[in-house]
Amino acid sequence: MALLELQNITAGYDKNVILKDLDFQVEKGELVSLLGSSGCGKTTTLRLIAGFSTPMAGKFIFDGKDYTQVPLNKRNFGFVFQSYALFPHMTVFDNVAFGLKMRKVPQDQMKKEVMEMLATVDLDGFENRFPKEMSGGQRQRVALARALVIKPDLLLLDEPLSNLDAKLRVKMRVEIRRLQQKFGFTAIYVTHDQEECFAISDKVAIMNHGVIEQMDSPSAIYNHPKTEFIARFVGFENFMDIRKTDREGVYLLPDDSRITVEGRGEGTGLKACIRPEDIAVVPQGTQAPNPLTGEVMVSTFLGKRNQYNVRTAIGEFEVSTDQESVYKIGDRVTLSLAPGKIILL
Ligand SMILES: Nc1ncnc2c1ncn2[C@@H]1O[C@H](COP(=O)(O)OP(=O)(O)O)[C@@H](O)[C@H]1O
Ligand SMILES: [Mg+2]
Repeated sequence: MALLELQNITAGYDKNVILKDLDFQVEKGELVSLLGSSGCGKTTTLRLIAGFSTPMAGKFIFDGKDYTQVPLNKRNFGFVFQSYALFPHMTVFDNVAFGLKMRKVPQDQMKKEVMEMLATVDLDGFENRFPKEMSGGQRQRVALARALVIKPDLLLLDEPLSNLDAKLRVKMRVEIRRLQQKFGFTAIYVTHDQEECFAISDKVAIMNHGVIEQMDSPSAIYNHPKTEFIARFVGFENFMDIRKTDREGVYLLPDDSRITVEGRGEGTGLKACIRPEDIAVVPQGTQAPNPLTGEVMVSTFLGKRNQYNVRTAIGEFEVSTDQESVYKIGDRVTLSLAPGKIILL
């Protein structure tokens, strides 16, 4: 049984419905990310799980119990927010000790646990500093220590790294993953950054306008997106309308030419897509699998790679090649769509 389960949750603000009939499950020990563009309802979902708000309809089950109406302070959850939300007038020690004090943990034990946790997040010797005397990355580690020291049944992180610079973000996400695996805690991690979320998560739930469009392992989502929305999110740029034929794996394009698709036979068979880097560009007329002739409309030099926009009889394709050969605007070329890389939606 899942540790956490949202069942048919409808929620929003006043009469404004944001989450529609949302179902969501997290197993014990998993780190699950909620990924989606700004405004899609990630924070609303997290606030609901945290207990800052209650749903209009539906149930929240935690560890087999109905938690829908359980107040915030009766949920043993830890939070880390984007804006660290440390207490500015308290030392690092007191910030981290806060949750233990609330839980009336005896002094000696509290001291021991706080110091151990500070060592875990690599902040030995910082216990007497104030938040303003620390860098963004250090403050975020204090926030993490404060959330973890209470041994939460669930850790909720809302874009915890978005205020940090790019390099530190990468370092901190490895750190969060390391701590999560060390302690085996269950976590829900909200982000709008695809790379960050794929790097850190056991599972990813991609949200779109208040619903979860697909929830799966990062590799399943990357390799087998189920909808056009998801496919676009993970780098598919080229979409084609297709029709089935009598032969398995063979489809017709809108101009009645054939394409062969290998081993990606899911979906309704009405639409297919392919990433720019899975299309080869060869001089027109060259023999190649799934050929489409076209004309180079835009040529963009990207350092290691060249990107071309190529107009074909069935629409414009974006392709990205690392080939030596360079094509100019107006060149007639043949695109070859790798049969094993075409995904059916
Ligand atoms: N306190 C609020 N009152 C009214 N509407 C809100 C409030 N907070 C968020 N919203 C609206 O709810 C929608 C989802 O917001 P949110 O869950 O914060 O999105 P995300 O975290 O995915 O960016 C947005 O349209 C937003 O404008
Ligand atoms: Mg948000």
